[in-house]
Amino acid sequence: MRGIILAGGSGTRLRPLTSVHSKQLLPVYDKPMIYYPLSVLMQAGIREILIISTPEHLDVYRSLLGDGRRLGVSIAYAVQDAPKGLPEALVIGREFIGDQKVCLILGDNIFYGHRLPDMLREEAGRLSGCTLFGYQVSDPERYGVASVDDEGRIVSLEEKPAEPRSNLAVTGLYMYDNEALDRAAQLEPSARGELEITDLNLTFVREGRARLVNLGRGSAWFDTGTHDSLLEASMFVQVLEKRQGIRISCLEEIAYRMGFVGKEQLALLGKELSESSSYGRYVLDLAGA
Ligand code: G1P
Repeated sequence: MRGIILAGGSGTRLRPLTSVHSKQLLPVYDKPMIYYPLSVLMQAGIREILIISTPEHLDVYRSLLGDGRRLGVSIAYAVQDAPKGLPEALVIGREFIGDQKVCLILGDNIFYGHRLPDMLREEAGRLSGCTLFGYQVSDPERYGVASVDDEGRIVSLEEKPAEPRSNLAVTGLYMYDNEALDRAAQLEPSARGELEITDLNLTFVREGRARLVNLGRGSAWFDTGTHDSLLEASMFVQVLEKRQGIRISCLEEIAYRMGFVGKEQLALLGKELSESSSYGRYVLDLAGA
């Protein structure tokens, strides 16, 4: 399975924070936002990853993450010229995906939960059609909203409905069979002029081949689309990290624990980050350096 992180968009809702910065590079407590979705893909065991961003910002991602080799993964880059909608990631990424399955994650979505990595690996293994991940929220009208039958099959799916049929929001994490590539290429733009991910997902819902996995109450999901949700995500990460003395979505740690890099490389990564950063010190401590 290949992974794609979509880190495009104009970040309008977060201006002026995003007037010159790419949204997905804004800090979420101690690390750039994109670390969080990247950590999800790595924990799912996905090592071939494509980052899609705007023409202005792609090079900043490249200088932050390089070709991924230092983390034991492979990272490629592609441009989305204009924000034409989420499914365009599958059109832009067509060659990169080849004949594989794909896991698409939005660069501004933050997931946390100790069962998540196992859950993702399990779902990748049983994927047929598309699998979405749902999260109970108090404001479902801001999101894609799904209802499911007893077996987790999606029976209704609506984008930002005024009167939601459930409080299960569809998060920005999507797994697709390869056939999604052709379907994405055939989508027509919606009234707001963009390709809609919900339209792509509905093609699978109509065939009874769309599954929704509820992330459950023991997990956290944030989209960082507003100033408040961005701060809330930062505070959530800070509280957990300080209380437990751990780091969430620390790419270097994940690369090590997943067996993508060894202890020597981990120490090197820690040195690069610098001892004077508490994050760097954490990585050095893990490496026993
Ligand atoms: C997009 C999707 C929506 C999903 C959300 C998750 O909305 O269209 O279905 O629930 O991402 O973050 P957007 O945030 O682009 O408005």
